[in-house]
Amino acid sequence: MVTVRHPESMRAWSGARRAEGKRVGFVPTMGYLHEGHTSLVRIAKEMGCEAVAASIFVNPTQFGPGEDYEKYPRNEERDLAMLSAAGVGAVFLPGAKEMYPEGHQTHVEVTGVSQGLCGAIRPGHFRGVATVVAKLLLIARPHVAVFGEKDYQQLAVIRAMVRDLGLDVEIAGAPIVREPDGLAMSSRNKYLEGEDRRAALCLYNGLCAARDLYETGVRVPEKLVNVARAKILSEPRAKLEYVEARDPETLSPSLSASGRMTILVAARVGPARLIDNITLEGKAA
Ligand code: PAF
Repeated sequence: MVTVRHPESMRAWSGARRAEGKRVGFVPTMGYLHEGHTSLVRIAKEMGCEAVAASIFVNPTQFGPGEDYEKYPRNEERDLAMLSAAGVGAVFLPGAKEMYPEGHQTHVEVTGVSQGLCGAIRPGHFRGVATVVAKLLLIARPHVAVFGEKDYQQLAVIRAMVRDLGLDVEIAGAPIVREPDGLAMSSRNKYLEGEDRRAALCLYNGLCAARDLYETGVRVPEKLVNVARAKILSEPRAKLEYVEARDPETLSPSLSASGRMTILVAARVGPARLIDNITLEGKAA
């Protein structure tokens, strides 16, 4: 596995793999990796990518003032060992000045799908995500890029951006990977200590309560949202930000007659801001 820090070197690696006739996969990350990230590498391979690259870059433009940019967990050595074991061929580790050189003044803004949910609570966040992902895709030039579904709205923003800009890359979503007790894996779980770790499970428990009610045949979004909300509010250590039911494809609050919906939640538990979601589908009983 090679590590490269300059966009030209990353571009050259990808270009060489393409010239060999290989399908190139790409897994962008902010590091402090866990099994969720290595599952993205595995999925890229399962999608026929003979060469997979990953990037590690804690992107300053997607953090708002007072957010955790400075203290975002970092462990380059461990990350590289994990990516090497996962069979990654190249890791792109740019610094901020490689990604945002002096005089940088271009940003990518996806409107509709960036609004509401995390977009309402973290103004400017998805502009930072869309900008860095567009730049990373243009540098790494993959055939396929894989993103986790835990960041469900982020995935929708990236899909819209790729479609609207006509970027020549397939975007794949990967299922959420969970701890044995159900907590969605996240680099920010590192912030959860003691009682906060136990309390963090209320997001998943809320989603499970909505799923259980859905499985009894209930399709009224407010009822499903209310049962999830009640579960999360019953945990005194959690500060709920939102629970909402949205269309799984468009993220619109108006749901299709099929009854398919995604319930998305965000809450703060101690120093960690956590998000999770579940897509509910199937015929009413
Ligand atoms: O999901 C993440 O880790 C980041 O938002 C991403 C997509 C790597 C962009 O910085």
